[in-house]
Amino acid sequence: MAIQKVMVIGAGQMGAGIAQVCAQAGFDVLVNDRNEDDLDKGMKNIDKILTRAVEKERITAQSKSDTLNRLTPSSQLKDAESCDLVIEAVVENMDVKRKVFGELDEVAPKHAILASNTSSLPITEIAAATKRADQVIGMHFMNPVPVMKLVEIIRGLQTSDETYGAIETMTTHLSKTPVEVEDFPGFVSNRILMPMINEAIFTLHEGVASREDIDTVMKLGTNHPMGPLTLADFIGLDTCLYIMEVLHDGFGDSKYRPCPLLRNYVKAGWLGKKSGRGFYLYD
Ligand code: NAI
Repeated sequence: MAIQKVMVIGAGQMGAGIAQVCAQAGFDVLVNDRNEDDLDKGMKNIDKILTRAVEKERITAQSKSDTLNRLTPSSQLKDAESCDLVIEAVVENMDVKRKVFGELDEVAPKHAILASNTSSLPITEIAAATKRADQVIGMHFMNPVPVMKLVEIIRGLQTSDETYGAIETMTTHLSKTPVEVEDFPGFVSNRILMPMINEAIFTLHEGVASREDIDTVMKLGTNHPMGPLTLADFIGLDTCLYIMEVLHDGFGDSKYRPCPLLRNYVKAGWLGKKSGRGFYLYD
């Protein structure tokens, strides 16, 4: 089955990036968000990123306008009725995702594949909210989507080989590298990354070093391109907390307990770059 038209649900930092790379690769894309302001912000962000790419001569003005012409805002899930693939990128919360998938299953055409960009939640459980579990799959893009080359493709227990093959091909069309991963908490990337970020937060919490020094140690000492606290701010502290909770629940091991400081920041609404404040301050 050839994928031509894609809907991306959630126009946040991930959804907007996914919509952009799909449109740049030539797919027609509906960008959906339940919140009008977020939808508008997502569309403007794409425009801004493409404008910067033109200024830096990474793409032509023509390519920018072609990409924008392939993107259509949508405020109704029902619009999925014309799509071959839906990629969900709403908040990292199982109840919300299951609700979205249940509704999508009612409106998307029978042949359509339903993918989730979840960072850590079980694809098998999301798929169980639909009557097409064989056509549900994880498509885990990395942040920032236009820059990062990896897509973890997660096979739920019932994901068919046909679905896997179609998504692997699609990923290659997006000029990304697919990696096949089984459905276990945190998959590969976040099972390894998130405990490291959580440990960096514990290190700050216990006063071992300042936030800048913790980041400097990991940048200069282990050659990471950015420190773990800066990275946490980029990912979103709410997302980091959700993922630690998924690892903690999924493995039942206390080594995955989220740091209390992370919980406090999320309670305060300090969610990182997207809210203007996390471990650092942003404009
Ligand atoms: P975000 O908070 O920036 O965006 C989420 C968007 O979804 C918001 O615009 C919100 O209005 C919208 N939304 C929420 N419920 C909705 C619904 N029922 N229908 C339509 N739209 C809805 O979140 P972000 O960071 O883009 O994360 C989205 C997903 O991507 C999460 O599952 C997250 O775990 C995953 N992810 C995040 C990464 C990151 O670095 N932030 C990296 C890889 C995956």
